[in-house]
Amino acid sequence: MSHGFTIFGGTANPALAAAIARDLHVQIGACAIDRFPDGEVAVRLLEPVRRKEVFLVQSTSPPVNDHLVELLAFADACRRAAAARITSIVPYFGYARADKRDGRREPITGRVVADLLEAVGIAQVVTVDLHTPQIEGFFHAPVDSLTAVPTLCRALRDRLPTDFVVVSPDAGRVQLATQYAQCLGAPVIVLHKRRQSGVQTEVTHIVGDVSNRACLIVDDIISTGGTVAESAAALLRAGARPEIIVAATHGLLVLGARHKLDHPSIREVFITDTVCATEKDWPKLHVISIAPLIARALERFLAATSAEETS
Ligand code: R5P
Repeated sequence: MSHGFTIFGGTANPALAAAIARDLHVQIGACAIDRFPDGEVAVRLLEPVRRKEVFLVQSTSPPVNDHLVELLAFADACRRAAAARITSIVPYFGYARADKRDGRREPITGRVVADLLEAVGIAQVVTVDLHTPQIEGFFHAPVDSLTAVPTLCRALRDRLPTDFVVVSPDAGRVQLATQYAQCLGAPVIVLHKRRQSGVQTEVTHIVGDVSNRACLIVDDIISTGGTVAESAAALLRAGARPEIIVAATHGLLVLGARHKLDHPSIREVFITDTVCATEKDWPKLHVISIAPLIARALERFLAATSAEETS
């Protein structure tokens, strides 16, 4: 039988962890996280977790490897302190794009991460808009993959221009774009993207008519901003109105993404707080919190656990 629950937040996104705890009317768990001068991480729990349900909130966002090792250390500390069950809440799951081999002699690093999380005793994973659903299959543990689409659609609803289309920036995002389109009642356009390198993409075809339409470009991740910028340029070349809105769950915004997205035709950019916002004072950027989405998921777990315990 578990004796209550504790939520701990790692250094990837303490504000999100605090918002989830606030939503659930609990204090965030006390812990100390330090870095040794050589870069190693030191985690210490400052309160007991024996026989407790533990939720660790840690996105494996940049610096990905540091945040990942911190999560592993955290889980190991909880396991050794006899937590009843450890659930890792990884709102942004790094290495999700390394979900298959594109050629021979390549790793499937997403699978390696899943193995590592399970090796340290993580019994359950909660994540948001996984890059591909098959990542769930990398785990033996249950994975609850939540979606931020309804949350983002609520924020977008009043900000969208008339007569717009939802744009999937590549074939891999058609399902995501369809979710937005159904939620917002708009047609879907699909771009065909060719990735030339980690920072360079090229749109080769547009499936559907965008002439004189406004566009909502949707994606799961904005990393360098190259995909969105290239998509916007291709849509404008194809006759779209210079009224482009962008929505993505995970705003990594690395390597000058802001500069790429500062094109005057890109009116607004909506992301969530799965990743701690690195950009401040950027009026076109809207960060929508998914804390309530995660808090509701945790309430469901806790209700199910207490039903199991009393049955
Ligand atoms: C790719 O498959 C993803 O869905 C995103 O389109 C991609 O990760 C975005 O990266 P960037 O912003 O660097 O183009």
